[in-house]
Amino acid sequence: MANVVVVGAQWGDEGKGKIVDWLSERADVIARFQGGHNAGHTLVVDGEVFKLNALPSGVVRGGKLSVIGNGVVLDPWHLVTEIEKIREQGVVITPETLMIAENTPLILPFHGELDRAREAQNSVAKIGTTGRGIGPCYEDKVGRRAIRVADLADKATLELRVDRALVHHNALRSGLGQEPIDRDALIAMLNEIAPQILQYAAPVWKVLNEKRRAGKRILFEGAQGALLDIDFGTYPFVTSSNVIAGQAAAGTGMGPGAIDFVLGIVKAYTTRVGEGPFPTELDDDDGQRLGERGHEFGTVTGRKRRCGWFDAALVRQTCAVSGVNGIALTKLDVLDGFETLKICIGYDLDGKQLDYLPTAADQQARCVPIYEEVPGWSESTEGARSWNDLPANAIKYVRHIEELIQCPVALLSTSPEREDTILVTDPFAD
Ligand code: GDP
Ligand code: IMO
Ligand code: MG
Repeated sequence: MANVVVVGAQWGDEGKGKIVDWLSERADVIARFQGGHNAGHTLVVDGEVFKLNALPSGVVRGGKLSVIGNGVVLDPWHLVTEIEKIREQGVVITPETLMIAENTPLILPFHGELDRAREAQNSVAKIGTTGRGIGPCYEDKVGRRAIRVADLADKATLELRVDRALVHHNALRSGLGQEPIDRDALIAMLNEIAPQILQYAAPVWKVLNEKRRAGKRILFEGAQGALLDIDFGTYPFVTSSNVIAGQAAAGTGMGPGAIDFVLGIVKAYTTRVGEGPFPTELDDDDGQRLGERGHEFGTVTGRKRRCGWFDAALVRQTCAVSGVNGIALTKLDVLDGFETLKICIGYDLDGKQLDYLPTAADQQARCVPIYEEVPGWSESTEGARSWNDLPANAIKYVRHIEELIQCPVALLSTSPEREDTILVTDPFAD
C-alpha cells in the first residue's frame, strides 16, 4: 500500500490543507510531522470553512485516525481550544480518532512571550514570525530542556522538567528585563491541562508501524513550505523545523522506506508572509491583483501576504530537496484574466546566469529574476473539474511549468472547494 507525504514547495499557504483533505478520502491515517499552530490550513466543504492549526486536516472526515507526531511542537492550551471550536462545527474528536506522540515537546506560555519579545525589538533580529513560540520551543527541544507530553503523566518528573527549563529561561528573561517565571503557577497550569492532553497520548511510532504492516494507507501532512525549511529555506527568515519530506519519517517514528510518494503543493504564483527575500515579488497592480483575487491574507496572523510571479527556479530546487514525485498545482483560477503571465526561470547574478537561488544572503539580494512571458487566458477556470474544462492557454501554462520544474502535475486545484480538484495521477496508486 502506498503512503503519501504532502509538503509545501514554496513559502507556505500553497493549499496543503485543501489537498490533504481531498486526499484523505483515500487514506486511513493522517499524520502531522513538524511545525505547530503556526500553520493555518483552510478547508472548504460544501461552502463550510474549516480552519486548522495544530490538528491534521484529516480530522474533518469521519472514520480516519489523525496523528500529531513527535516532530510537531504542541501548545496544549491552543489544542484544547482548537478541538472545542472544530467540535462546534460537528467534527468528532475522540482518543480513537486523535493520537498525540508521547515524545512531542510542549509549547509553554513563556515560549510565546520570548518569541514576541524578540520580534517586538524591531531590530535586525526580526523574522516576522507568527509569534506563537514555535522557535523557542524547538530551541528547548534541541537544548534538551523541553517538557514533553509524557512528562505530564508524573507530577515529580514534571516538576523536575520545569526546573530544568527555568534555569535557562529565567537567565534569559533577566537579560531581557522580564520578570522570572512563576514556577508554581506554571506547574499548576500544566497539571490542570494534563488529563485533557494525556487522553490522546500514544506511542505513535508503534501505532504507525503496526498500521503500515496491516496495509493501512498513511498520509503525512506537512506544514509551512520548503523555502521556510530550517536548512534549505531563506535562512534566517525561516521557521525552526525541517519541513521537507524527509522529515515525515523522523517526525513520526517511521523509516524512510515508509514513504512511497511525495506530493509537493505548489501555488500557480508565489506568496510569502513575513520578512525575507522574495525575488519575484511584485509591488505593482499585478501583485495587488494576485492578492485580491487569491484572498492572500494569512490564516494565523491576518497579515497581508506578499505576492509575485511563479518562480520555476525555486520550485525546481524545492522539488529536488523534498524528492517530489508529483505536484498539486493550486489556485490556477487566480490567474484567470491576465493578458500575459511571467515565469521566473533563473537569476542574473552580477552578469552570470544561475538556475538556482544561491545560499549567501548578499548574493540572494543581488539576484535579478530572468523572466519568460507567456500568454494568459480570458476564460474562467474557477471550479473546473476536468482537463477538458480548462482553456488551451491554461493547459499550456501548466505543461510549461511541469517542464521547467522537471516534475509532473498529479493534481490541479481550481477553487477552495474540496471537489473543485482535477486528478491527473493518483499519488496513492501502487
Ligand atoms: P495551506 O497553509 O497550504 O493549507 O494553505 P492556506 O489554507 O493557508 O491558504 C490557501 C488558501 O487558498 C485557502 O484560503 C484555501 O481555501 C484557498 N485555496 C486552496 N486551493 C485553492 C484554489 O485552487 N483556488 C482558490 N481560489 N483558492 C484556493
Ligand atoms: P502553513 O502551514 C506561511 C512563516 C512566518 C515567518 C516564518 C517564521 O499555513 O503553510 P514561525 O512562527 O514559524 O517561527 O515564523 O515562517 N510561517 C508561515 N508562512 N505559512 C505557514 O504555515 C507558516 N508558518 C510559519 O510568517 O515568516
Ligand atoms: Mg496556511
